[in-house]
Amino acid sequence: PPGRRSPVVAVRSGGVAAAAPILTQLRGKCATPLPVLRRVADAMAADIRAGLAADGGDGLPMILSYVDTLPTGGEKGLFYALDLGGTNFRVLRVQLGGKDGRVIDTEFQQVSIPQELMFGTTEELFDFIASELARFVEKEGDRFQLRQEMKREIGFTFSFPVKQTSVDSGILIKWTKGFAVSGTAGRDVVACLNEAMERQGLNMHVTALVNDTVATLAGARYWDDDVMVAVILGTGTNACYIEHTDVIPKLQGPKPSSGRMVLQIINTEWGAFSNSLPLTEFDRDMDSASINPGEQIFEKTISGMYLGEIVRRILLKMANTTALFGVSAPEKLCTPFTLSTPNICAMQQDESDDLLTVGTILNDVVGAQSSLSARKTVVEVCDTIVERAGRLAGAGVVGILQKMEQDSKSLIFGKRTVVAMDGGLYGHYPQYRKYLQDAVTELLGPETSKNVVIDHTKDGSGIGAALLAAANSKYAN
Ligand code: GLC
Repeated sequence: PPGRRSPVVAVRSGGVAAAAPILTQLRGKCATPLPVLRRVADAMAADIRAGLAADGGDGLPMILSYVDTLPTGGEKGLFYALDLGGTNFRVLRVQLGGKDGRVIDTEFQQVSIPQELMFGTTEELFDFIASELARFVEKEGDRFQLRQEMKREIGFTFSFPVKQTSVDSGILIKWTKGFAVSGTAGRDVVACLNEAMERQGLNMHVTALVNDTVATLAGARYWDDDVMVAVILGTGTNACYIEHTDVIPKLQGPKPSSGRMVLQIINTEWGAFSNSLPLTEFDRDMDSASINPGEQIFEKTISGMYLGEIVRRILLKMANTTALFGVSAPEKLCTPFTLSTPNICAMQQDESDDLLTVGTILNDVVGAQSSLSARKTVVEVCDTIVERAGRLAGAGVVGILQKMEQDSKSLIFGKRTVVAMDGGLYGHYPQYRKYLQDAVTELLGPETSKNVVIDHTKDGSGIGAALLAAANSKYAN
């Protein structure tokens, strides 16, 4: 009704400048000065501790991976890896040559997961995985061997929260990252895959089921003994680290005999973290509208699936209440997830005076005509959200290191310690990487941060899963 609309038009007539107060307020709410970072790092360390003490409380899931041997470099043979966890699904074949040869050969294939499979049935999803694997095996000429010789072994990187019962089995706790496949939660995903492989007539066997963080840690550790932590920043986010079994109260069974340090890689599932985060109305609205409200709040604040969507929500509010994109908000801007994180990343790389690339993206992706000052505002919004995300991720890393340092009595900060990073967001977003590193340096101080190396390991996860399949091999290779 006209009576309701007129105030909106009146506000919009203020031009792009009218968006300034919204931006200022946003910046204030998203600010991550040192005390905020410190609070987040401390809360992360505390939630890690609580999660190690018991399952199901306020702490993080802290899932035991049952990976207690790290790659040595001596692994040998032909192994496969499957990687399911985000927008893409990958199959790899790795020829490991032992200490001298290391990785002799890798071949891989990547396919994007058809959208409908993310909402389909368990059988449909696993049949798709097994059929892609069968095609790859056939194309790579391994079919003959598969029929004639021993079973090939697979490291299965399955990047969702799984309650592991051993290194080669685990029950899906819940889907994350937009997956809503029916009937999988509560089932052993290795059994699901084995059944699907049988339906495809594949003579293959899963010897290691691992989270992508765990595979990344194993892959990075293969080359560098100082790797202690691995972090994924991609569609979703998560971290794992090497823990001593004697400080895991919830670990049942015999404790290691004294003098022997037994290790276990722990998958923190830090995406579920939510304490002390500087959140806004846009985060809360996005969470309420999501398929998993109230869950994965850290992930929704810092990972690739969500950053573009947070920016879209802010721009929509600006376009609805000011003249950011003219008299009305472009229709496409009203559709959830139209603006992706790669879009906002591309806009932030535009260093030209007239921000032409920003203008083109706004026009092509959300159908917005923009003045130069509107484009500047858009870039500021992207930067605010990415800065918050990168710095919070950095605080998370420091939280883990702090916890390790406390228990190991200076064995972390007093020597070179490597944090292996992977995931498309980290790999492709230079500003994100810088904000993360800055936060780590601010939190640790110049001296300690010299010892902490934040290192991009490209595709450690594929090789890592194959290495763990080798380390847990049941057949001679
Ligand atoms: C989600 C999953 C987690 C995975 C992460 C990164 O947070 O729950 O298991 O490691 O995404 O892919």
